[in-house]
Amino acid sequence: MSMLTRRRLLQRAASSPAPTGATGTPLGAAAAVAAGPTTAAPASDEDRGPSAEPQVALRFPATFGWGAATSAYQVEGAAKEDGRGESVWDTFSRTPGRVSNGDTGDVAADHYHRWPADLDLMRDLGLDSYRFSISWTRIQADGTGTPNQRGLDFYRRLADGLRERGIAPMATLFHWDLPQALQDKGGWESRDTAARFADYADIVFRALGERIPVWLTVNEPKTVVQNGYLRGHHAPGLQDPDAAYLVAHHLHLAHGLAVQAFRATGEPGRIGPAINLHPCYAADDSPAAAEATRLYDGYENRLYLDPILRGSYPTDVLADLGPTSRLATGILDGDLDVISSPVDLLAVQYYTPIYVTADGGTEQRWPTSVANWQQIYPDGFFDILTRVTRDYGPIPLTVTENGLPTRDVLAADDTVDDSARVEFLRDHLAAAHRAIAAGVPLESYHVWSLLDNFEWEVGYDQRFGLVYVDYATQRRILKRSAHWYRKVISDNGF
Ligand code: FCB
Repeated sequence: MSMLTRRRLLQRAASSPAPTGATGTPLGAAAAVAAGPTTAAPASDEDRGPSAEPQVALRFPATFGWGAATSAYQVEGAAKEDGRGESVWDTFSRTPGRVSNGDTGDVAADHYHRWPADLDLMRDLGLDSYRFSISWTRIQADGTGTPNQRGLDFYRRLADGLRERGIAPMATLFHWDLPQALQDKGGWESRDTAARFADYADIVFRALGERIPVWLTVNEPKTVVQNGYLRGHHAPGLQDPDAAYLVAHHLHLAHGLAVQAFRATGEPGRIGPAINLHPCYAADDSPAAAEATRLYDGYENRLYLDPILRGSYPTDVLADLGPTSRLATGILDGDLDVISSPVDLLAVQYYTPIYVTADGGTEQRWPTSVANWQQIYPDGFFDILTRVTRDYGPIPLTVTENGLPTRDVLAADDTVDDSARVEFLRDHLAAAHRAIAAGVPLESYHVWSLLDNFEWEVGYDQRFGLVYVDYATQRRILKRSAHWYRKVISDNGF
């Protein structure tokens, strides 16, 4: 992609289109791209150069952004450097028995030191956009008080380095690494944590606002709720259903307060939440399965979309939790106005569908990846993208995570053949292309992940990267999928 197109992308990323709630014709009318295999003309001459037109069956819109994603705790390492404080994931991963092989993010992919080379690698892949997260404890070691300039400087250098290479920075404010000092005061069960988050967000907006065109507030609140507070296999490792849904509310409140803080700075960028969505299907034709699926969908999707995009909690979920639940009693007057502060875009993350049985359980329908929670079903991606547009209107969408874990092996000739990942990405991108053709305003796509990294409770066991990381030497090796993705980006399709 040419520098000109990149510049357009950076500019476009910073402009503020339709706010949430804007009306329009979500699906059907004006399809953004032609559906089905075609040998369409090049997106634009400046993109293609003088050589022969690539044979591309699925061409994406000319302004479509191609990206990759990571998060701070998963790649940075440098756990004790430059004033970084401890987060709940430091505590959790150092607790024996919590993470496979006793792995921690202390070193991870050492991105904190190797970022210039990693940025060069992104440029070589042709990325338009890089999604990373900011570590709260590098900015405020204990989650409150005076900002740590060395932490802010790291992200300033990172953002500048990206822009110098023509890559748009996309920053997530919270990717699960809550300061341990705040956890000690109640963590997300405490309403005050949302206020602390707004202070932290304000610091970051004021320091980096002009450099970052797109901000994401909270990454996957559902995963904190379900894995951190229901199942307990993520930090903080609790199994407390009543607390879990209050935590959801405070994460939503944190999101809304951060959006308001962002507007107050007057910075020109865009902001939205990053939500993982799971299309829920009934496992059989029975009315009981249909009813169980509706409620399941409430807990998986509407509990996270409705407060932000509609200003209300789903009534079926509230009724199911009961009037004395900590969620029901924790919603104070005005909270939903804060939570539904207009956002500029919605970041969608998709990995797997869920099949719901008549008794409210789940069953496996499709083959899983090496992660047993993931069934590989690209049509689910189409279904969830079109559903969001149908149910919530034409809010601009970006996909900020989609990917496949594998147990890659570095061959003697220094190559990594991750054909399964190529197939996965191809099939999911084809589904995204279909969704765009059906009228979904999807503007960009980010593979999870750029690099192999610390995959939470399974540590370094599963590799999600386009780029293989040899953890012993920290050498980076482009996998087959990285070479494939580079070509997709340069052809703007495949
Ligand atoms: C998502 C997380 C991300 C990564 C992928 C595999 O839930 O946001 O950090 O672990 O799953």
